[in-house]
Amino acid sequence: MEQTKTATRDYPSLSNAPWGLWDTLYARRSNRKYLPGEIDREILGRLEEMVRTAVSVRGADEGSLVLVSDKAVVERLKQRLHKGMQGKINLWLNRSPLEGFLALVLPKEDVRSGRPQMLPLAAMAAEDVILWLTEAGLGTCWLGALNQREVREALGLGKDMFVSAAISFGRPKPRVKAMDMDHMMYRRISRKRKPLAEIACLETIDRHYTEAQFAQRSFSASGTQDIAGLLGRLSENRDSSGDVPLDLALDACFEAARIAPSAGNTQKWHFVAVCEEDARRKLAEACGIENAWRAAIVAVGDVDTGFLYEKMEKPFWMIDLPIALSQMSLMAASMDLAVDVEIRGIDEKAISALTGLRPPLRAVGVMGIR
Ligand SMILES: Cc1cc2nc3c(=O)[nH]c(=O)nc-3n(C[C@H](O)[C@H](O)[C@H](O)COP(=O)(O)O)c2cc1C
Repeated sequence: MEQTKTATRDYPSLSNAPWGLWDTLYARRSNRKYLPGEIDREILGRLEEMVRTAVSVRGADEGSLVLVSDKAVVERLKQRLHKGMQGKINLWLNRSPLEGFLALVLPKEDVRSGRPQMLPLAAMAAEDVILWLTEAGLGTCWLGALNQREVREALGLGKDMFVSAAISFGRPKPRVKAMDMDHMMYRRISRKRKPLAEIACLETIDRHYTEAQFAQRSFSASGTQDIAGLLGRLSENRDSSGDVPLDLALDACFEAARIAPSAGNTQKWHFVAVCEEDARRKLAEACGIENAWRAAIVAVGDVDTGFLYEKMEKPFWMIDLPIALSQMSLMAASMDLAVDVEIRGIDEKAISALTGLRPPLRAVGVMGIR
């Protein structure tokens, strides 16, 4: 698999055992060019299973992540998704022989509420499936710029439902240097990521993370590195095992979040690690967890209603940050850490006070390390 982003450090070399999840995370990129030809039926069957697993592990609502693989519906969705101003940037779909879509289908009232509850869990599950597709050698692309009415009709949904995003998938066309949309988007937008110091903080939002000088520089990554296996590990009620030092673990989780995809690659996010004892206890309390975690990372979205957010009427912070939480939690599992990902029902006010968040910054979720 080709590495599509520049890594902060050579993470795999820090492990004595193969740390394969990095290959999948760095190989995932938005594919806007696909090859004709059908995907193996067996893979499609496993994909259905994978969607069910991810929805269940993330506690998402059944039906909030829909797999569209019926040829006629795929074609209809492809043609209608980019109609009008809203979907213009996705005209490339016209020339793409896709295999299917995943669609985030939520009640309109959830998406439009001040703090969507169902949307973030569906988004996390979607990113899990995207990484599974990457591992299977398939290409994917998140699509947030879509024509709501057309997509709703193409999927036969009622007016009370809202499609927050769709994800295309198919056989990826190898990247070549050319003056096309795929290459242009890749070069201009997609490859770039903010450095860790800009997005990661320690204890509070005003204390920037400086790259760790690890006291112990090696450990053994988990024997499980595939996405399905890691999701299985996340669903087990267990304690952390393995020998990963906490500073290295936090650094790896920050990096997993840093390279995640975000709408328009805006990366309007921060990740605050909470390690001090009193703060850890209070944070767990604010998430309704009884025992304090060994450490936790608060995922923070910048909800500044810029052009992109306003015009599209979408709470992208409730998609982007869950995507990062998916990647961070899989990374934790790849180091044999047991984590809780808390989004629903957290006391946002208490977490903001604890980590010094002020508008437009909002706590989306917390990943606590047991
Ligand atoms: C919620 C969301 C919506 C997105 N919408 C679109 C879209 O409508 N069209 C598109 O071509 N790319 C879209 N993207 C892809 C991003 O532009 C891409 O993830 C980002 O530039 C980073 O590039 P990478 O995915 O190749 O790492 C979207 C990504 C996310 C997470």
